Amino acid sequence: MARTAYVNGRYVGIKEPAVRIEDRGYQFADGVYEVIKVVGGELRDLDRHMARLERSLGELRIEPPVSRRALGAVIRETLRRNGLKNAIVYVQVSRGTAPRNHLFPRAPRANLVVTVRRAPFPSAAELQDGCAVITVADQRWGRCDIKSISLLANVLAKQQAAEAGCREAWQIDEKGMVREGSASNAWIVDMQGRLITHPLGPEILGGITRARVIEMAKEEGVEVIERPFTLDEALEAREAFLTSTSSLVMPVVEIDGRSVANGKPGSVTMALQNRYRAAQGMIAKSAVT
Ligand code: PDD
Repeated sequence: MARTAYVNGRYVGIKEPAVRIEDRGYQFADGVYEVIKVVGGELRDLDRHMARLERSLGELRIEPPVSRRALGAVIRETLRRNGLKNAIVYVQVSRGTAPRNHLFPRAPRANLVVTVRRAPFPSAAELQDGCAVITVADQRWGRCDIKSISLLANVLAKQQAAEAGCREAWQIDEKGMVREGSASNAWIVDMQGRLITHPLGPEILGGITRARVIEMAKEEGVEVIERPFTLDEALEAREAFLTSTSSLVMPVVEIDGRSVANGKPGSVTMALQNRYRAAQGMIAKSAVT
């Protein structure tokens, strides 16, 4: 089936030239986005994604193009037209279309694009085996809490990771602290079994999966410490993992070519992975021990 996208009030073929040359997203990366998971036809954590989108827009002083309700309806219709029940939704809002000028246009009308595609979730084997990451110096801008479409540093880092045979590139700050991945949050489990992840702030994106994992851990009585951790701590940790809407809870078994613990996914990580997948309707609740 040919893919259909939504662009400013119209449903168009994905290959149609539907966005204008002077879209500020295209010329300045002046826009924001969201990535939302759909499982069995249900949008997961939609309210949280909507709230984060509205926050990102507010921080950049972009007027939302449509109401939250209308956006929900557009997303559902796009899914219906593409016949997808397990999918990833991509929502992009740019400041609008105007003759190229760094200054905000006088009366901007934000451009809204919604695309959907078949879910690229990790396979059961990938979730079982975990992944390797490299580390890179963080070269991103100072407002990583905004889900901006300006992702050049993230693109370069992820490419570098892929060329090294790794899934992610952990961003290291000037003090040697691990911030997050290029498209996921970073975690370790210390020798006391506590979860450690970078605190919210301009250095990281407040992941929806991150928030879910914190809630699940607390329900299980697992202590969560939101503080920066060093690369050395990660290398000496009992377990490490990453989280994102599409990678779920993914064990990290190797960092810069060095094994984390015995090089196998840890039990805390796997328990969280199972709970998360069950909570998101990706496996039966009875599969969680
Ligand atoms: N990435 N940190 C960064 C820099 C991200 O880009 C993402 C998400 C996350 C995790 O956020 P969440 O749990 O809400 O997906 C953390 C999306 C999936 C992407 O860019 O495709």
